[in-house]
Amino acid sequence: VKKSDVVKLILKNKYLGTPLKQTGVAFAPTNIALCKYWGKRDNDLNLPVTSSLSIALGKKGAKVNFQVINETHDLITLNGEVLDVASAFAQRLVTFLNLFRLKQGPYFSIIIESNIPIAAGLASSACGFASVVLALNQVFGWNLTVTELSILARLGSGSACRSLWQGFVEWNAGQRADGMDSYGQPLNFNWPDFCIGLLVMSEKEKHLSSREAMLRTVNHSALYSAWPAKVTTDLVKLKTALSEKDFTLLGETSESNAMSMHATMLSAWPPISYALPETVMIMQKIWKLRSEGLPLYFTQDAGPNLKLLFLEAHLLQVKAEFSHIEIVKPFAHI
Ligand code: DP6
Repeated sequence: VKKSDVVKLILKNKYLGTPLKQTGVAFAPTNIALCKYWGKRDNDLNLPVTSSLSIALGKKGAKVNFQVINETHDLITLNGEVLDVASAFAQRLVTFLNLFRLKQGPYFSIIIESNIPIAAGLASSACGFASVVLALNQVFGWNLTVTELSILARLGSGSACRSLWQGFVEWNAGQRADGMDSYGQPLNFNWPDFCIGLLVMSEKEKHLSSREAMLRTVNHSALYSAWPAKVTTDLVKLKTALSEKDFTLLGETSESNAMSMHATMLSAWPPISYALPETVMIMQKIWKLRSEGLPLYFTQDAGPNLKLLFLEAHLLQVKAEFSHIEIVKPFAHI
């Protein structure tokens, strides 16, 4: 099964339609996984080996503005800068857009504004592709369901299929070869005093994409075989933590899940480590604060930055310990 087959399955007779509207504007929040997506059962369709569970970051994300233009190529602007068509970012987006049009177009001016560091392990591709499918749905007048949009977003980047909702979202791995049962679903848990702290150690591009790192881990890590069972246990624990508002269980499970994912990478060959010296120093600081009684946990993705998990009751203490932290309250605006 190819990406273009999935697009045909979803768009049916609307496939490769002409634009209905000249513009499409959409926002999608970025999301952070508490139980990670790590490893694919289909590398082209971004079908995961396991399910995963994330939290959306409210107003942190990407806004896109699509405008049909009378050109033979797209014009992409990212945070005020026109992108070189040959850049990796532009190529990835154009390749994705080509799934939905013929050679004659339509082509777009695409203005992307992201308020999170691109490629710094803060899931920028997730909100990017989610906002793009939302905008395309408008431009082409597809009228797709959010589930169908989630499947299309996954074709751009796996974690993007979780970025179509606010709050907690579960991505069911599914079993089908065409991935029609592999999409995000919102979980109905509200947790108003839940806080996330973003600690950016580096805004530099990551040295190895999660795509390549996943592939290497699945193929060359002795520890990867233990990962699916770990995810199964952690998903049960996380859902219990959410329904009982058990923050300790949520924090412990999320941190342990992230550490286990990184352990599978460390055991790959060549080894993969996304940590900077500062990352490790801050982990140790968190463990020390926790041993002193502060309920503070972290998670880490395919980059050096840490995302801190805590409750509003400890906000001031956390701020006092980490001067450069940016706080997100995922439920504040809902
Ligand atoms: C560590 O969704 O960026 O953030 O499907 O290859 O685009 P592709 O990978 P991507 O991987 C995200 C990996 C992660 C964990 C997660 O978000 O679940």
